[in-house]
Amino acid sequence: MTDLNVIGVVGAGVMGRGLAQDLAQHGHKVLLVDKEQEILEQALRSIRQTLRANLLMGRRPGSRSVDETLSSIVTSTDIAILSDADFVVENATENLDIKKEIYRRIDQICAARTVFAANTSAISITRIGSLTARPDRVLGIHFMNPVPMKRTVEVIRGYHTSDETIGTANRFLSQLGKESVIVSDSPGFVSNRVLMLTVNEAAFLVHDGVAPPADIDKIFVECFGHTMGPLATADLIGLDTILYSIEVLYESFNDSKYRPCPLLKRMVDAGLHGRKSGKGFFEY
Ligand SMILES: NC(=O)c1ccc[n+]([C@@H]2O[C@H](COP(=O)([O-])OP(=O)(O)OC[C@H]3O[C@@H](n4cnc5c(N)ncnc54)[C@H](O)[C@@H]3O)[C@@H](O)[C@H]2O)c1
Repeated sequence: MTDLNVIGVVGAGVMGRGLAQDLAQHGHKVLLVDKEQEILEQALRSIRQTLRANLLMGRRPGSRSVDETLSSIVTSTDIAILSDADFVVENATENLDIKKEIYRRIDQICAARTVFAANTSAISITRIGSLTARPDRVLGIHFMNPVPMKRTVEVIRGYHTSDETIGTANRFLSQLGKESVIVSDSPGFVSNRVLMLTVNEAAFLVHDGVAPPADIDKIFVECFGHTMGPLATADLIGLDTILYSIEVLYESFNDSKYRPCPLLKRMVDAGLHGRKSGKGFFEY
Protein backbone atom coordinates (compact mmCIF):
# COMPACT_ATOMS: atom_id res chain seq x y z
CA MET A 1 0.00 0.00 0.00
CA THR A 2 1.39 3.43 -0.96
CA ASP A 3 2.40 5.79 1.86
CA LEU A 4 0.32 8.94 2.09
CA ASN A 5 2.51 11.04 4.35
CA VAL A 6 3.95 13.73 2.09
CA ILE A 7 1.28 15.59 0.14
CA GLY A 8 2.01 18.00 -2.72
CA VAL A 9 -0.39 20.92 -3.06
CA VAL A 10 -0.14 22.97 -6.27
CA GLY A 11 -1.68 26.45 -6.05
CA ALA A 12 -1.81 28.43 -2.80
CA GLY A 13 -4.98 30.42 -3.47
CA VAL A 14 -8.34 30.04 -1.73
CA MET A 15 -8.43 26.23 -2.07
CA GLY A 16 -4.73 25.40 -1.87
CA ARG A 17 -4.19 27.27 1.39
CA GLY A 18 -7.33 25.76 2.98
CA LEU A 19 -6.19 22.29 1.96
CA ALA A 20 -2.60 22.85 3.16
CA GLN A 21 -3.97 23.92 6.55
CA ASP A 22 -6.29 20.90 6.78
CA LEU A 23 -3.49 18.50 5.80
CA ALA A 24 -1.01 20.00 8.28
CA GLN A 25 -3.59 19.83 11.06
CA HIS A 26 -4.03 16.14 10.32
CA GLY A 27 -0.29 15.43 10.65
CA HIS A 28 0.77 15.40 6.99
CA LYS A 29 3.91 16.99 5.66
CA VAL A 30 2.78 19.46 2.97
CA LEU A 31 4.77 20.67 -0.04
CA LEU A 32 2.92 23.83 -1.12
CA VAL A 33 3.79 25.28 -4.54
CA ASP A 34 2.69 28.48 -6.24
CA LYS A 35 4.14 30.54 -9.05
CA GLU A 36 4.81 33.58 -6.84
CA GLN A 37 6.69 33.84 -3.54
CA GLU A 38 4.38 36.67 -2.38
CA ILE A 39 1.31 34.40 -2.75
CA LEU A 40 3.02 31.68 -0.69
CA GLU A 41 3.84 34.21 2.05
CA GLN A 42 0.23 35.47 2.01
CA ALA A 43 -0.98 31.87 2.25
CA LEU A 44 1.17 31.16 5.33
CA ARG A 45 0.00 34.43 6.96
CA SER A 46 -3.62 33.56 6.32
CA ILE A 47 -3.22 29.96 7.61
CA ARG A 48 -1.54 31.32 10.78
CA GLN A 49 -4.44 33.77 11.29
CA THR A 50 -7.03 31.02 10.85
CA LEU A 51 -5.22 28.63 13.22
CA ARG A 52 -5.00 31.37 15.86
CA ALA A 53 -8.68 32.28 15.44
CA ASN A 54 -9.58 28.58 15.78
CA LEU A 55 -7.62 28.39 19.05
CA LEU A 56 -9.49 31.41 20.40
CA MET A 57 -12.78 29.75 19.51
CA GLY A 58 -11.72 26.51 21.19
CA ARG A 59 -11.46 24.60 17.88
CA ARG A 60 -8.24 22.62 18.02
CA PRO A 61 -7.99 19.34 16.13
CA GLY A 62 -4.99 17.49 17.60
CA SER A 63 -2.60 18.75 20.23
CA ARG A 64 -0.08 20.61 18.08
CA SER A 65 0.63 24.33 18.50
CA VAL A 66 0.15 26.85 15.68
CA ASP A 67 3.92 26.92 15.06
CA GLU A 68 4.19 23.12 14.99
CA THR A 69 1.33 22.89 12.49
CA LEU A 70 2.86 25.60 10.29
CA SER A 71 6.28 23.94 10.43
CA SER A 72 4.92 20.96 8.50
CA ILE A 73 4.16 23.17 5.49
CA VAL A 74 7.15 23.65 3.16
CA THR A 75 6.59 26.27 0.45
CA SER A 76 8.33 26.75 -2.88
CA THR A 77 7.94 28.38 -6.28
CA ASP A 78 9.88 25.43 -7.70
CA ILE A 79 7.50 22.62 -8.63
CA ALA A 80 10.48 20.19 -8.58
CA ILE A 81 10.05 19.86 -4.76
CA LEU A 82 7.08 17.62 -5.58
CA SER A 83 9.49 14.79 -6.43
CA ASP A 84 9.08 13.71 -2.78
CA ALA A 85 5.26 13.73 -2.81
CA ASP A 86 3.27 10.55 -2.19
CA PHE A 87 0.06 12.17 -3.49
CA VAL A 88 -0.52 15.50 -5.28
CA VAL A 89 -3.61 17.72 -5.23
CA GLU A 90 -3.61 20.37 -7.96
CA ASN A 91 -5.52 23.58 -7.13
CA ALA A 92 -4.19 26.04 -9.73
CA THR A 93 -6.30 28.62 -11.57
CA GLU A 94 -9.27 27.15 -13.48
CA ASN A 95 -7.62 27.38 -16.89
CA LEU A 96 -6.73 24.37 -19.03
CA ASP A 97 -3.54 25.92 -20.45
CA ILE A 98 -2.20 26.58 -16.94
CA LYS A 99 -3.15 23.10 -15.78
CA LYS A 100 -1.63 21.49 -18.93
CA GLU A 101 1.81 22.86 -18.11
CA ILE A 102 1.54 21.78 -14.45
CA TYR A 103 0.54 18.18 -15.31
CA ARG A 104 3.29 17.94 -17.92
CA ARG A 105 5.84 18.94 -15.26
CA ILE A 106 4.55 16.81 -12.36
CA ASP A 107 4.25 13.78 -14.61
CA GLN A 108 8.02 14.08 -15.24
CA ILE A 109 8.95 15.00 -11.66
CA CYS A 110 6.87 12.65 -9.50
CA ALA A 111 7.35 8.94 -8.88
CA ALA A 112 5.34 6.65 -11.17
CA ARG A 113 3.18 5.45 -8.22
CA THR A 114 2.09 9.02 -7.25
CA VAL A 115 -1.61 9.75 -7.70
CA PHE A 116 -2.68 13.15 -9.04
CA ALA A 117 -5.97 14.61 -7.84
CA ALA A 118 -7.35 17.59 -9.77
CA ASN A 119 -9.35 19.95 -7.60
CA THR A 120 -10.99 21.56 -10.61
CA SER A 121 -14.48 23.08 -10.69
CA ALA A 122 -15.46 21.97 -14.15
CA ILE A 123 -12.65 20.67 -16.40
CA SER A 124 -13.05 17.06 -17.53
CA ILE A 125 -10.90 14.65 -15.50
CA THR A 126 -10.49 12.41 -18.54
CA ARG A 127 -9.00 15.39 -20.37
CA ILE A 128 -6.65 16.15 -17.47
CA GLY A 129 -5.65 12.47 -17.26
CA SER A 130 -4.77 12.53 -20.96
CA LEU A 131 -2.13 15.20 -20.25
CA THR A 132 -0.12 12.58 -18.36
CA ALA A 133 1.37 9.16 -19.02
CA ARG A 134 -0.57 7.83 -15.98
CA PRO A 135 -4.28 8.48 -16.67
CA ASP A 136 -5.14 5.49 -14.45
CA ARG A 137 -3.61 7.38 -11.50
CA VAL A 138 -5.46 10.66 -12.13
CA LEU A 139 -8.84 11.48 -10.61
CA GLY A 140 -10.86 14.49 -9.56
CA ILE A 141 -11.29 15.46 -5.93
CA HIS A 142 -13.62 18.41 -5.79
CA PHE A 143 -13.04 19.84 -2.33
CA MET A 144 -15.59 22.24 -0.93
CA ASN A 145 -14.75 25.68 0.40
CA PRO A 146 -13.62 26.30 3.17
CA VAL A 147 -11.73 22.99 2.94
CA PRO A 148 -11.05 22.43 6.69
CA MET A 149 -14.74 22.83 7.52
CA LYS A 150 -16.31 20.69 4.81
CA ARG A 151 -16.57 16.99 5.54
CA THR A 152 -17.85 15.73 2.17
CA VAL A 153 -16.19 15.99 -1.24
CA GLU A 154 -17.12 14.98 -4.76
CA VAL A 155 -14.74 12.37 -6.21
CA ILE A 156 -14.67 12.08 -9.99
CA ARG A 157 -13.65 8.95 -11.83
CA GLY A 158 -12.05 9.75 -15.22
CA TYR A 159 -12.33 7.34 -18.15
CA HIS A 160 -9.07 5.57 -17.24
CA THR A 161 -9.07 6.08 -13.43
CA SER A 162 -8.38 2.69 -11.81
CA ASP A 163 -10.18 1.17 -8.81
CA GLU A 164 -6.85 1.23 -6.99
CA THR A 165 -6.61 5.01 -7.49
CA ILE A 166 -10.15 5.50 -6.16
CA GLY A 167 -9.15 3.34 -3.17
CA THR A 168 -6.00 5.42 -2.55
CA ALA A 169 -8.04 8.64 -2.76
CA ASN A 170 -10.60 7.31 -0.30
CA ARG A 171 -7.82 6.36 2.12
CA PHE A 172 -6.32 9.85 1.72
CA LEU A 173 -9.71 11.47 2.37
CA SER A 174 -10.50 9.32 5.39
CA GLN A 175 -7.17 10.45 6.93
CA LEU A 176 -8.64 13.97 6.69
CA GLY A 177 -11.94 12.84 8.23
CA LYS A 178 -13.75 13.35 4.92
CA GLU A 179 -16.28 11.25 3.06
CA SER A 180 -16.74 11.11 -0.68
CA VAL A 181 -19.53 10.86 -3.19
CA ILE A 182 -18.13 9.18 -6.32
CA VAL A 183 -19.46 10.35 -9.68
CA SER A 184 -18.55 9.68 -13.32
CA ASP A 185 -16.64 12.24 -15.31
CA SER A 186 -18.56 15.00 -17.08
CA PRO A 187 -17.70 18.72 -17.23
CA GLY A 188 -18.83 20.41 -13.99
CA PHE A 189 -19.52 16.92 -12.51
CA VAL A 190 -22.74 16.97 -10.47
CA SER A 191 -22.18 19.97 -8.18
CA ASN A 192 -21.03 22.64 -10.57
CA ARG A 193 -23.17 21.66 -13.54
CA VAL A 194 -26.07 22.78 -11.35
CA LEU A 195 -24.42 25.41 -9.16
CA MET A 196 -22.66 27.39 -11.93
CA LEU A 197 -25.89 27.67 -13.92
CA THR A 198 -27.74 28.86 -10.82
CA VAL A 199 -25.10 31.44 -9.97
CA ASN A 200 -24.88 32.64 -13.59
CA GLU A 201 -28.67 32.99 -13.76
CA ALA A 202 -28.68 34.90 -10.45
CA ALA A 203 -26.08 37.27 -11.99
CA PHE A 204 -28.44 37.71 -14.99
CA LEU A 205 -31.20 38.74 -12.54
CA VAL A 206 -28.95 41.55 -11.25
CA HIS A 207 -27.88 42.42 -14.82
CA ASP A 208 -31.52 42.61 -15.96
CA GLY A 209 -32.48 44.79 -12.96
CA VAL A 210 -35.04 42.27 -11.68
CA ALA A 211 -33.84 42.55 -8.06
CA PRO A 212 -30.72 43.67 -6.13
CA PRO A 213 -28.26 40.99 -4.88
CA ALA A 214 -29.42 41.15 -1.24
CA ASP A 215 -33.04 40.48 -2.22
CA ILE A 216 -32.12 37.62 -4.58
CA ASP A 217 -30.12 35.90 -1.85
CA LYS A 218 -32.82 36.60 0.78
CA ILE A 219 -35.31 34.53 -1.24
CA PHE A 220 -32.97 31.52 -1.24
CA VAL A 221 -32.08 31.87 2.45
CA GLU A 222 -35.45 32.75 3.93
CA CYS A 223 -37.86 31.04 1.53
CA PHE A 224 -35.85 27.93 0.61
CA GLY A 225 -33.85 27.55 3.83
CA HIS A 226 -30.45 27.59 2.08
CA THR A 227 -27.52 28.57 4.33
CA MET A 228 -26.30 31.07 1.72
CA GLY A 229 -27.82 32.62 -1.38
CA PRO A 230 -26.28 32.05 -4.84
CA LEU A 231 -24.58 35.45 -5.00
CA ALA A 232 -22.93 35.19 -1.56
CA THR A 233 -21.85 31.68 -2.62
CA ALA A 234 -20.36 33.15 -5.80
CA ASP A 235 -18.43 35.73 -3.74
CA LEU A 236 -17.11 32.96 -1.47
CA ILE A 237 -15.95 30.82 -4.41
CA GLY A 238 -14.44 33.82 -6.28
CA LEU A 239 -16.13 35.48 -9.26
CA ASP A 240 -13.09 34.80 -11.46
CA THR A 241 -13.34 31.06 -10.67
CA ILE A 242 -17.11 31.20 -11.36
CA LEU A 243 -16.53 32.87 -14.74
CA TYR A 244 -13.76 30.44 -15.78
CA SER A 245 -15.95 27.49 -14.74
CA ILE A 246 -19.02 28.65 -16.66
CA GLU A 247 -16.75 29.27 -19.69
CA VAL A 248 -15.46 25.67 -19.40
CA LEU A 249 -19.07 24.39 -19.32
CA TYR A 250 -20.01 26.55 -22.32
CA GLU A 251 -17.04 25.28 -24.36
CA SER A 252 -17.41 21.67 -23.21
CA PHE A 253 -21.12 21.24 -23.97
CA ASN A 254 -21.36 23.75 -26.86
CA ASP A 255 -24.67 24.71 -25.29
CA SER A 256 -25.83 28.34 -25.12
CA LYS A 257 -27.50 27.76 -21.76
CA TYR A 258 -24.02 28.11 -20.22
CA ARG A 259 -23.26 31.52 -21.81
CA PRO A 260 -21.59 33.68 -19.16
CA CYS A 261 -23.53 36.69 -17.91
CA PRO A 262 -21.94 39.92 -19.26
CA LEU A 263 -22.16 41.49 -15.78
CA LEU A 264 -20.04 38.66 -14.38
CA LYS A 265 -17.41 39.30 -17.08
CA ARG A 266 -17.43 43.02 -16.35
CA MET A 267 -17.05 42.50 -12.61
CA VAL A 268 -14.11 40.12 -13.12
CA ASP A 269 -12.42 42.58 -15.52
CA ALA A 270 -12.89 45.32 -12.90
CA GLY A 271 -11.15 43.19 -10.24
CA LEU A 272 -14.34 42.50 -8.25
CA HIS A 273 -13.50 38.87 -7.45
CA GLY A 274 -15.68 38.47 -4.35
CA ARG A 275 -14.47 37.89 -0.80
CA LYS A 276 -10.82 37.43 -1.75
CA SER A 277 -10.68 40.95 -3.30
CA GLY A 278 -12.96 42.58 -0.68
CA LYS A 279 -15.82 43.21 -3.13
CA GLY A 280 -18.09 41.19 -5.39
CA PHE A 281 -21.88 41.21 -5.29
CA PHE A 282 -21.40 42.26 -1.64
CA GLU A 283 -18.69 44.16 0.27
CA TYR A 284 -16.35 42.49 2.82
N1 LIG B 1 -12.94 28.63 -4.89
C1 LIG B 1 -13.69 27.54 -4.70
O1 LIG B 1 -14.67 27.59 -3.93
C2 LIG B 1 -13.35 26.24 -5.38
C3 LIG B 1 -13.97 25.07 -4.93
C4 LIG B 1 -13.59 23.84 -5.50
C5 LIG B 1 -12.65 23.81 -6.52
N2 LIG B 1 -12.07 24.98 -6.95
C6 LIG B 1 -11.04 24.87 -7.99
O2 LIG B 1 -9.78 24.90 -7.34
C7 LIG B 1 -8.81 25.51 -8.22
C8 LIG B 1 -8.21 26.72 -7.51
O3 LIG B 1 -9.26 27.64 -7.21
P1 LIG B 1 -9.03 28.82 -6.14
O4 LIG B 1 -10.38 29.30 -5.79
O5 LIG B 1 -8.08 28.40 -5.09
O6 LIG B 1 -8.33 29.92 -7.11
P2 LIG B 1 -7.34 31.09 -6.71
O7 LIG B 1 -7.37 32.02 -7.85
O8 LIG B 1 -7.64 31.60 -5.33
O9 LIG B 1 -5.91 30.34 -6.63
C9 LIG B 1 -5.28 29.77 -7.72
C10 LIG B 1 -3.80 29.77 -7.45
O10 LIG B 1 -3.12 29.04 -8.49
C11 LIG B 1 -1.87 29.67 -8.66
N3 LIG B 1 -1.24 29.27 -9.92
C12 LIG B 1 -1.53 29.68 -11.17
N4 LIG B 1 -0.67 29.13 -12.06
C13 LIG B 1 0.17 28.34 -11.33
C14 LIG B 1 1.27 27.53 -11.67
N5 LIG B 1 1.68 27.40 -12.93
N6 LIG B 1 1.90 26.86 -10.68
C15 LIG B 1 1.49 26.97 -9.39
N7 LIG B 1 0.45 27.75 -9.00
C16 LIG B 1 -0.20 28.43 -9.97
C17 LIG B 1 -2.20 31.16 -8.62
O11 LIG B 1 -1.05 31.94 -8.40
C18 LIG B 1 -3.19 31.19 -7.45
O12 LIG B 1 -2.54 31.43 -6.21
C19 LIG B 1 -9.56 25.88 -9.50
O13 LIG B 1 -9.41 24.86 -10.45
C20 LIG B 1 -11.01 25.98 -9.02
O14 LIG B 1 -11.91 25.78 -10.07
C21 LIG B 1 -12.38 26.19 -6.39
